Amino acid sequence: MADNYIENKFEEYNSKKKVVYKSAGRSLDRLLTTNRSYRGYDQAYAVSKGTLEKIVAVNPLLPSAKNQQALRFKLVTAGDKADIVLENIKLGGMLPELHLPFPGTEPQAFIIICSTVPESKMLHVDLGIAAQSMLLKAVELGYNGLIIGAFNAKRIEESFALPYPPVLILAIGKGNENIELKTISANESHAYYRENGTHIVPKVRWEELIIR
Ligand SMILES: Cc1cc2nc3c(=O)[nH]c(=O)nc-3n(C[C@H](O)[C@H](O)[C@H](O)COP(=O)(O)O)c2cc1C
Repeated sequence: MADNYIENKFEEYNSKKKVVYKSAGRSLDRLLTTNRSYRGYDQAYAVSKGTLEKIVAVNPLLPSAKNQQALRFKLVTAGDKADIVLENIKLGGMLPELHLPFPGTEPQAFIIICSTVPESKMLHVDLGIAAQSMLLKAVELGYNGLIIGAFNAKRIEESFALPYPPVLILAIGKGNENIELKTISANESHAYYRENGTHIVPKVRWEELIIR
């Protein structure tokens, strides 16, 4: 009797677990797929400081090497020196002829990520986890974004009188580009490109990512 009880409870637990995993799997895939790199934004949608705060608020939920939690965040919204960030970032370096972003579609809100510790492998891992997690939160809130590694760190640090060096910038806004993923083989070109106004992002099929 007692055995059956435990068995039943175990099955009940497992079946619940399966349901939870299944729906979480679907929503995670959707979030990840929607979370593309946008280089053009609809400026009719202003991103508030409050929205940027909600995005930064995911950080205490994240893993961190030695739990160092060394990242700090400067929030920048439209009219609040956003133009200075724009002057010091480079978007779409693989499509230089397009001079992205197109006028009138520039991102207007940014999260400048700074580090209280010198850059290292572990700091960079933390940085990647933080950047992607914040972008996923932005997508959940109905926005989009872009990770920006190509920026003038010295100018950004000076212009915002930052107490720590900036290590990465996120642009946040309502994306207004058509972006499609294209499955490719590992030996095909990985370079993103535009086709009839759609931004195509080649991604190597997952089966080829497994070392056999
Ligand atoms: C660490 C890192 C740095 C990046 N820096 C830039 C950048 O400076 N400018 C830019 O336009 N895109 C930048 N990107 C975006 C990548 O180009 C983009 O992730 C890639 O083209 C694939 O597109 P997807 O994000 O839609 O999958 C960066 C992405 C990462 C992860």
